[in-house]
Amino acid sequence: MKLSTPHLLGIKDLLPQDIRLILDTAKQFKEVLQRPIKKVPSLRDVTIVNLFFENSTRTRISFELAERRLSADVLNFTTSASSVSKGETMLDTVNNILSMKVDMVVLRHSASGAPHFLAKHISSAIVNAGDGTNEHPTQALLDAYSIEEATGSLQGKKIAIVGDIMHSRVALSNIHLLTKMGAEVTVAGPPTLIPKFLTEAFGVNVTYNLKEALQWCDVANVLRIQLERQNQPLFSSLREYNIAYGISRKLLDSLQKDIIIMHPGPINRGVELDSDVANGHESIILQQVENGVAVRMAVLYLLAGQ
Ligand code: CP
Repeated sequence: MKLSTPHLLGIKDLLPQDIRLILDTAKQFKEVLQRPIKKVPSLRDVTIVNLFFENSTRTRISFELAERRLSADVLNFTTSASSVSKGETMLDTVNNILSMKVDMVVLRHSASGAPHFLAKHISSAIVNAGDGTNEHPTQALLDAYSIEEATGSLQGKKIAIVGDIMHSRVALSNIHLLTKMGAEVTVAGPPTLIPKFLTEAFGVNVTYNLKEALQWCDVANVLRIQLERQNQPLFSSLREYNIAYGISRKLLDSLQKDIIIMHPGPINRGVELDSDVANGHESIILQQVENGVAVRMAVLYLLAGQ
């Protein structure tokens, strides 16, 4: 089986069968990662560059680990230590790297559409590791994998996406994926952080009442408040945001039902999630991170086979 696309630019471009193929392949790689020897030779002689024009902890390390587990040769690039700081364009940078016989590019960039632009100009496979406020496809895939692992399936599951929907590439990729795979989605947060087009464009439910969303859902995927992307104040203070939209132990207990708590990281503890919720028995946050390696192995393996 093959993916219908030579790149992973966004979940928007994937067919449901592509998503299924990636999740099923990731399951096989997760089994590999439980073995004493966690390395397979699948991408031997394949060279991959991780181009990170924006900060990252989880995604960058997870991609590098996935590449090394697949026996690929790995190059890491960060803007601050490169000639981008001398004025070189992204395309020149990439073409110079590719001329050294690099096969695949993993790109994180603060500009929405950067990987799509690159895909028009280079022939190597590109994996979007997060572009601006557009998409973060491997995060949505690892979130989906984690939901399936915890609940058995995506079909018919009720997923609440909570918080800063407006600035979140994780939200958009999750909405694309979950609606393609038959889950129901509600977004919850302050009106100033929820784009108006969501219901019309995707058929998702919108609520400004956090407790209503939590009472409805099987899984709450809680997003980070992205202050660095807000040009103007969109809520009065972090303290007040926490009172209205933060998830506390008291709030979870008041639901009188079990829900699963997810977060893509990095967490603002005491803002969108209280520490005892992030560390509590409902939380699968670290399982998400663990699953990210298997999911990224699957993506790289399938794209290299195109
Ligand atoms: N979830 C996520 O993308 O985290 P990083 O920004 O640390 O990669």
